[in-house]
Amino acid sequence: MAGDDITAAPTGSALTGNAPISSPSTRSASGRHIDSDNPLRIGIVGTGGIARVHAENVRRLEGRARIVGACDIEPDRVTEFQSAWDVPVGTTSLEELLDTVELDIVHLCSPPGLHKEQAIAALRRGIHVLSEKPPALSLAELDEIAQAERAGGAQFATVSQHRFGSRALWLRDRVADGALGRVLTAVCNTLWYRPDSYFDLPWRGNWQIEGGGPTMGHGIHQMDTMLSVLGSWSQVVAVAARQARPVATEDLTHAIVSLENGAVASVVNSLLSPRETSYLRFDFEFATVELEHLYGYSDASWKITAAPGCEDRVAAAWRLGPHGNGSGHAAQFAAILDAVETGRPLPVTITDARSTLELIAGIYASAFTGTRISAGEIDAASPFYRSMEGSGAPWSTAAAGAELSA
Ligand SMILES: NC(=O)c1ccc[n+]([C@@H]2O[C@H](COP(=O)([O-])OP(=O)(O)OC[C@H]3O[C@@H](n4cnc5c(N)ncnc54)[C@H](O)[C@@H]3O)[C@@H](O)[C@H]2O)c1
Repeated sequence: MAGDDITAAPTGSALTGNAPISSPSTRSASGRHIDSDNPLRIGIVGTGGIARVHAENVRRLEGRARIVGACDIEPDRVTEFQSAWDVPVGTTSLEELLDTVELDIVHLCSPPGLHKEQAIAALRRGIHVLSEKPPALSLAELDEIAQAERAGGAQFATVSQHRFGSRALWLRDRVADGALGRVLTAVCNTLWYRPDSYFDLPWRGNWQIEGGGPTMGHGIHQMDTMLSVLGSWSQVVAVAARQARPVATEDLTHAIVSLENGAVASVVNSLLSPRETSYLRFDFEFATVELEHLYGYSDASWKITAAPGCEDRVAAAWRLGPHGNGSGHAAQFAAILDAVETGRPLPVTITDARSTLELIAGIYASAFTGTRISAGEIDAASPFYRSMEGSGAPWSTAAAGAELSA
């Protein structure tokens, strides 16, 4: 459990089984044909824990993608990864990987503090990037990546695998066709447990490399999925605390988020919760839709409850597809292959990822300054634009003040 925020889904789910994932696609003139004779060529950057999940999920793509190179600053890790996943080229140098191996895309599986530099290095060479979350440490960094994307002709996408399970696609379709009525309120809880030892890895629990605590590193999946359903947020008020863990960042935030569509959501991000759960709940006029799981969901993790008198129309909506794919990385990888084939933007785009990163910055800004934050307010003049720590967490400024007065 600890140390990895993606583990096996419930046994027997469609999510982590070894079932191949494929989806029909229509190729346009601007796309590039992909099949097992002409696979997407992937380079993996950082061959630690999540890289293994990438390798497993690439294997589920029926040969349409292949890992052709990998790099890690730890030589033993690259060698081990190469032999485990049959990767022809391994190196300790990102530049060597980018300059000597023919790549279509790199998957950044490195610590968050490296994503910006590594992404820009690939984009400048015309190589697409799929970055693990968080895509960058701050809005300023993400905007720099966007600038490199605009200049280079290649695209930057962020891993947000929970957006791509069948029932998440289903829910966004029902919002679009109005089958469940207006969405009125939502709950978004990431209540996880990480013991002190989880923070032994040097990049965890600090602002400079991890970029934040559970709000940035763990709840990001849930908040991103929530926003993919509810649309743009307009305002946030929040409280942050460092209750128990030996970290510079928070280990808990509570936030109230107002959406542009009028809905209001409550969001909790915790690493202090022994009974762990990832819980999303949407109350529509005609039904409540709930998703409860831990690190990955299947169709069975979703539940719907009709409002009185709405049973028939809700049952009819619930029967609609798609079905069968869980939230594993393979569904997003398949969506990326389809986007490359059809010439569409690679999901999740910078614009979509930025909305979530801006909400995270807004939660920190509200919590640390005691104010309500509006979307668009964190611009280049705000300290929260360059760092999620912004003007400083109350616990670190209180400690600094105490030291000064001692
Ligand atoms: N999508 C998810 O559900 C999910 C789950 C877990 C982790 N993650 C994200 O994946 C990323 C990596 O996390 P992890 O748990 O695999 O960490 P990890 O520490 O297990 O692996 C990171 C690897 O990067 C290597 N590395 C360090 N500096 C490097 C450099 N300059 N060039 C190349 N490689 C370098 C390290 O040696 C290590 O092998 C993080 O951004 C994390 O938030 C995402």
